[in-house]
Amino acid sequence: MSLDVKKIKEMFPIFSNNPSLIYLDTTASALKPKAVISSLNDYYNNYGVNIHRGVYNLSYEATELYEASRRAVAEFINADYEEVIFTKGTTNSLNMLAQSYLFKLKPGDEIITSELEHHSSFLPWLNVSKKTGAKLVFAKLDENGDIDLEYLKKIVNKNTKIIALTYVSNVMGRIQKVKEFVEIAKSVGALTVIDAAQAAGHLKIDVKDLGCDFLAFSGHKMMGPSGIGVLYINKKHHNIVEPFEFGGEMVNYVYKDKAEYREAPIKYEAGTPIIAGAIALKQAVELINEIGFTKIKKHIKKLNEYTLKKLKEIDGVVVYNKSDTGIITFNLEGVHPHDAATIFDNKNICIRAGEHCAQLIVRWLGETATLRASFYIYNSEEDIDKFIETVKEAVRFFKKF
Ligand code: ALA
Repeated sequence: MSLDVKKIKEMFPIFSNNPSLIYLDTTASALKPKAVISSLNDYYNNYGVNIHRGVYNLSYEATELYEASRRAVAEFINADYEEVIFTKGTTNSLNMLAQSYLFKLKPGDEIITSELEHHSSFLPWLNVSKKTGAKLVFAKLDENGDIDLEYLKKIVNKNTKIIALTYVSNVMGRIQKVKEFVEIAKSVGALTVIDAAQAAGHLKIDVKDLGCDFLAFSGHKMMGPSGIGVLYINKKHHNIVEPFEFGGEMVNYVYKDKAEYREAPIKYEAGTPIIAGAIALKQAVELINEIGFTKIKKHIKKLNEYTLKKLKEIDGVVVYNKSDTGIITFNLEGVHPHDAATIFDNKNICIRAGEHCAQLIVRWLGETATLRASFYIYNSEEDIDKFIETVKEAVRFFKKF
């Protein structure tokens, strides 16, 4: 059975508030369904209190909602409850982790990264490398822009301490072989840090099956609120990875000269957490579960193929990738993407233009900027038809100059 996009659009208030909207920028942020918005409102309307520390019923109830969301997220990625740490988002998760490893790396150690990385998955390690003297080593990309596993096997060695790679690039949209990354890392005792920001809304993440050490994603790219994210920390590291921040609730005992921290996950969530965001994230998880990844994937594949076929028929369009997750990175020949994007904006079509916070891969493509259209469950073939009409119009318009 295919997705009933009309019904799905009804779940998203933005489409009744902005009926002509064609939203093709889910890779930047997914739209938010009513259930998520209502859950945020419900917390502020009916609770609005702190969690974990209140000694009254309202606080116990809010705490239960927050922890229920953690359980839902744990199940969503097949983690154990205490392995799910709520953060502000992927960037925050990866930076906290990189900072915590900062002092454990030394000159001579190696961190494997790649040109496929989003800046959030690259810059924290560049910074660590500058500060510690650990060396950044680049994995190689094959002709499709996938991490070359044979090359990865060749470059790992006893000095490799961390392999920090993306699950799905926000420019290429292709699913990487994370399980193989983990096996290769394990062969030399290195740790794996996986940026799953673009994966979480598109495919079943199973951290137990992957065997990764750390994995990060954001709520807002999977229809949850912005400002909430997840850092998965494999429990075998809970005694080794120290808290990232220090403050309220994360501690058992505090003396003038020492402190004893609580167990994970609380020891990694100092201070008042993002209560409403975490609670509402559960609604996004439930919506994805309800629809199911099989249908999501099938729908997105259909839209992707339909769009590529139509784009091929237009002279003057260059497509750079063949995505598994509904991301089309393209340009109109001889037109700067920002100029082209204004034509789409005039038609209330949202696409992204620029370097996508991933300059290394855009440069690998031989460009300084591109256009990008990305699809999700609320996009229909009619949306694509309007997008294609606008591509044709833009090509015609810029030909005049
Ligand atoms: N990383 C986000 C994007 O790809 C913002 O657009």
